[in-house]
Amino acid sequence: MTELRWGLLAAGTIAAHFAAGVEESRHGTLAAVGARKADRARDFAARFDIPKAYGSYEDLLADPDVDAVYVATPHALHKEWAIAAAEAGKHVLCEKPLTLTAADAGEVIEAARRNDVFLMEAFMYRLHPQTRRLVELIASGAIGEVRAVDTTFSFDSNPEETARLSDPALGGGGILDVGCYCTSLARLVAQAATGQDVVEPAEVSGMARLSASGVDEYATCLLRLPGDILATISCGIRLTREDGIRVFGSRGQLYVPRPAWIHPLRAPGVSEIILTPAEGEPEVIEVEATQGVFAREADHVATHVGDRQAPELTWAETLANMRTLDRWREAVGYGHPS
Ligand SMILES: NC(=O)c1ccc[n+]([C@@H]2O[C@H](COP(=O)([O-])OP(=O)(O)OC[C@H]3O[C@@H](n4cnc5c(N)ncnc54)[C@H](OP(=O)(O)O)[C@@H]3O)[C@@H](O)[C@H]2O)c1
Repeated sequence: MTELRWGLLAAGTIAAHFAAGVEESRHGTLAAVGARKADRARDFAARFDIPKAYGSYEDLLADPDVDAVYVATPHALHKEWAIAAAEAGKHVLCEKPLTLTAADAGEVIEAARRNDVFLMEAFMYRLHPQTRRLVELIASGAIGEVRAVDTTFSFDSNPEETARLSDPALGGGGILDVGCYCTSLARLVAQAATGQDVVEPAEVSGMARLSASGVDEYATCLLRLPGDILATISCGIRLTREDGIRVFGSRGQLYVPRPAWIHPLRAPGVSEIILTPAEGEPEVIEVEATQGVFAREADHVATHVGDRQAPELTWAETLANMRTLDRWREAVGYGHPS
């Protein structure tokens, strides 16, 4: 097992979740944080007891005591900084979506390959025992032949507090922010049902309400997946729909209330999957997690850093999801962010 010294590239909301995760992890330590302004980096470092704080991302990447970099900027900056981190010889955990487009994701992957470093898109839900149990249930035929999936991830953000979400230059909108989880989940269900490693939809159609600035405020999408599994997905940054995933099979259905933003987030705990047979009473399946979501993610990178890719989130997996997002955005008239 590799012990990783982490450098955090940006000091925003998710960087704080991840910093707390590294603190709880078994194989990671917080070595440094970089922010665009030195005082912001210093405040963040004081909050998490991080030994070094840099007032630029370049200085963070130049630190020889940093083994792995967590890229936690808005989406539009992921490409530039993930490539810069790889060029600096650092292993990279980059927030989702890896980039704005599949073509850009290919460039980041090439940089990781060229520099022989680890790279993973931070879809932390994929590593959680709840997700693994869902996959096992589907693959073992617990609900028979899978026919349909319905999944939603949305929230009603305050535009003043979350400027990045309204700004097309930063890759704003719901599809890239939370719709990416829905496409990832729907594809995962089809992967589990068909036994294929990485699948992509044969057909993608979508609709959205676009804001005056041109980003999708809420959006829906229909996917035809391998095995003739039909997925209905919706997402939004100005929408309050119940988050969840329902998988419908010939002999029953599965329901997970929070498939992506899994609770408890920052502590060990128990979450639930509900299996309802076509005939019979619902059964609550409890899933125990021995670590918080972000601690698990940090340790997962430490486990697989030598392989350069994590088995649950390979580069092929990221590219397939990014191509699906390209098609969804195109279908709703949000062709190229920024
Ligand atoms: N995996 C998850 O569960 C999850 C959850 C939430 C978000 N995310 C992802 O994490 C990324 C960041 O989201 P967040 O919610 O943490 O956003 P946030 O709170 O707005 O933080 C973004 C950080 O990026 C830095 N930044 C650099 N250039 C910027 C610019 N031009 N405009 C604004 N900020 C800039 C800022 O850091 P400094 O000023 O400190 O340098 C800021 O603190 C997004 O890609 C999002 O998709 C993932």
